[in-house]
Amino acid sequence: MSILNSIDVAAKYIREGKLVAFPTETVYGLGANALDPMAVAKIFELKERPSFDPLIVHIASIHQLQDLVLNTDERVHKLTEKFWPGPLTMVLPKSNIVPDIVTSGLPTVGIRMPSNEIALDLIRISDCPIAAPSANKFGRISPTTAAHVRKQIPNVDYIIEGGKTTVGIESTIIKLTDKGFQILRNGIITQEELETVVPFDGETAIEKLSAPGMLKSHYSPRKKLLIADSSSLDLDKSKAGLISFSGEVENGFCKVIRVSDRKDLKDYAVNMFEAMHSFEDDNEIELIIAEPVCETGVGRAIMDRLRKAEFNWRQA
Ligand code: TXA
Ligand code: MG
Repeated sequence: MSILNSIDVAAKYIREGKLVAFPTETVYGLGANALDPMAVAKIFELKERPSFDPLIVHIASIHQLQDLVLNTDERVHKLTEKFWPGPLTMVLPKSNIVPDIVTSGLPTVGIRMPSNEIALDLIRISDCPIAAPSANKFGRISPTTAAHVRKQIPNVDYIIEGGKTTVGIESTIIKLTDKGFQILRNGIITQEELETVVPFDGETAIEKLSAPGMLKSHYSPRKKLLIADSSSLDLDKSKAGLISFSGEVENGFCKVIRVSDRKDLKDYAVNMFEAMHSFEDDNEIELIIAEPVCETGVGRAIMDRLRKAEFNWRQA
């Protein structure tokens, strides 16, 4: 009798049309066979995600890309060569085999090849592309550990334990135009890095680009979160948790999570969602304060996530 390891079990579930939460290098995904519309429908149901918000399809080989999209020009090859496997999603014209439910009826599909070995093995052994959004309830904090998935989506068919993710925020999403690439969502792969391969088409502001599901509120903790430079804060810190980057003004807070000892923005990205989860779960904390950073390089992706996490609370 053969004993199946967890990836084999998970792959069997995927083939049977069930849902599997699995680690990627960015955040945990809630995956289903991308070519099975009934399985994909369960993702929307379990995540309580509106049907207008399209899913990213995860692949493990360039061969799979060719099946899923209509054509790939030279720029796509250059980008995949440099950034795949890795946290870059490309939105490309879809082929007929991609069900409409995956793309919310759009003629394009978002595709990426993750670099996490468990994710790649899962896709290979399942022998199909895997559609997967982040494995959180719609609008809530993204999961960077299996425990975060269990907290929000306990009733998923299977969760693969893969430790803490190494990037910590979702992939950069781009689309190609005649002039170059546009960024639909900022991530750890920055505009500057992408520009070394393809020109940046920055004529339209990111807020004006059409990426369904890019709402003003997202990544939202259940407790009030404010972006604030803690030195200028005029409020009771005794029940507040500080997500600290500079490490400079930490006095008076109930708890402090320092996201980087070496003041590296990549560490902020890696630890930001985990810090939000930790304060959300902490009975002593009523308010979360997140320290802002400069909006250059990875700072753009960090401030994007923080603003969306803050949005509903600013209105309140
Ligand atoms: O790192 C990631 O990208 C993670 C991991 C699991 O791979 N996935 C992720 O998926 O962040 P999700 O569903 O949370 O975000 C996907 C977003 C959608 O909200 C939408 O804005 C954009 O990708 N997207 C997907 N397909 C698109 C399309 N055809 N056109 C424009 N935007 C698209
Ligand atoms: Mg998400």
